[in-house]
Amino acid sequence: MTPDAYRVIISKRDTRHYLDKPIPDETVQRILQAGRMAGSSKNSQPVRYIVVRGAQGKAELAGCGQYAHHLPSAPLVVALVLVPGGGAFDAGRAAQNMMLAAWAEGVTSCPVAMHDQDRARAVLGIPPDHSVAMVLAFGYPDRRYPLHGGRQRLPLHELVHWERW
Ligand SMILES: Cc1cc2nc3c(=O)[nH]c(=O)nc-3n(C[C@H](O)[C@H](O)[C@H](O)COP(=O)(O)O)c2cc1C
Repeated sequence: MTPDAYRVIISKRDTRHYLDKPIPDETVQRILQAGRMAGSSKNSQPVRYIVVRGAQGKAELAGCGQYAHHLPSAPLVVALVLVPGGGAFDAGRAAQNMMLAAWAEGVTSCPVAMHDQDRARAVLGIPPDHSVAMVLAFGYPDRRYPLHGGRQRLPLHELVHWERW
């Protein structure tokens, strides 16, 4: 891993304030490619992507989550949809790939859970046996707001066990 990749990984935070500035199509393509290239169980590739940039779609999705108020202000929203049998870990790998690829280009992001799955399915028009694993909000960060909002991580020694628990 190059030092740059490590810096991207450890500086990535989930932010909710975005500039009113569109994300270029080339960057959108790279974000989607990063999701596509994520490994999945038995290479099952169970994640599908719905790109939402329209104001109405974003507003309707904001009504499907309990902490989704920032979706309408994000210039790019991507819903990660799991086909039947797909696992949360598969979607998680794709999501983190996408958010890190975005951050490498200066685009911040935030995962947003869709608590009302039925409503999210209806908004996105997806089949009843599919689920919305996560919705990702992307945008250039509004630097008037701190990236990390004061949130800390537990120290490594509290998290890591060596050889046994
Ligand atoms: C599974 C999962 C669900 C999340 N759901 C939401 C959400 O619905 N709305 C939101 O604003 N942030 C959501 N987040 C973002 C978390 O709040 C965020 O990862 C955490 O506060 C750490 O943020 P930081 O990396 O900026 O410190 C979610 C994160 C994960 C991993």
